[in-house]
Amino acid sequence: SLPNTYEGSVAIAVIGGTGLRELPGFTQVASLSVSTPWGNPSSPITILHHECKHNGKVVAVAFLSRHGAHHQIAPHEVPARANIAALRSIGVRSIVAFSAVGSLQEEIKPRDFVIPDQVIDRTKGVRPWTFFEGGVVAHVPFGDPFDEGMAKVVRECGHSLEGDGVVLHDRGTLVCMEGPQFSTRAESKMYRSWGGSVINMSALPEAKLAREAEIAYQMICMSTDYDCWHDSADVTVEMVMGNMKSNAENARRFVTSVLDALASDEHADLVNAKHLAGGIKFGVSTPQA
Ligand code: ADE
Repeated sequence: SLPNTYEGSVAIAVIGGTGLRELPGFTQVASLSVSTPWGNPSSPITILHHECKHNGKVVAVAFLSRHGAHHQIAPHEVPARANIAALRSIGVRSIVAFSAVGSLQEEIKPRDFVIPDQVIDRTKGVRPWTFFEGGVVAHVPFGDPFDEGMAKVVRECGHSLEGDGVVLHDRGTLVCMEGPQFSTRAESKMYRSWGGSVINMSALPEAKLAREAEIAYQMICMSTDYDCWHDSADVTVEMVMGNMKSNAENARRFVTSVLDALASDEHADLVNAKHLAGGIKFGVSTPQA
């Protein structure tokens, strides 16, 4: 079994969603059971060593399975604060998060990838969504919910795989709904009228908490179905799982390419979120002494 400690620094994390519970083909060097003031994360954090294909450098990467090691955690039960706090506590400053999504647009076909640049929050307030409470107040800008620097790298990597079976949509508005039930047809059509591109149950509060923690965060969406607005069969769990499974190899190549890029020297400031450091203090107000 793997050691429960890791000495080196780990700036980059990958969060796996439905169908991506582990990253096969990477060397696992540790498995960390981290506890936080917000409880335990969804799973132990696996530390992987990845050798960058551009410069041969070995980088440590943290991997966390959002729905647990056995996919036992429902979307509304994901301990997002513990997940983000645990990753931050081991040094993580940049996250690439995967998620299965339903498509709200004809041109986004099942198995296509989407790099969203906007989010509409349709969670219902049942998930703890901030680290700041109990007298500590902070207002964090969230006009651009994802990190443009990370997005740029991820888009370039996706496009580099395009001849190889990866279809990538550069932008999109992601609707994050409350689960675990899928949408009604009326809701699905409403989301289309709002300009929604894809829909999932997992982007929030994860992206908000990452912003509060000054972590550069970008989600990579993998379309698994046309949501129920479409004339094809209504979305089922089997459909989501089946398409995730057939897309797992593409997802693995995608993440490998992103890690190769992030490990290069030119992206050192980005993965250490130098552009976010200290940003939050201007919004914080605590009781005056
Ligand atoms: N995740 C995958 N497909 C989905 C859908 N159609 N609605 C919400 N979340 C999803």
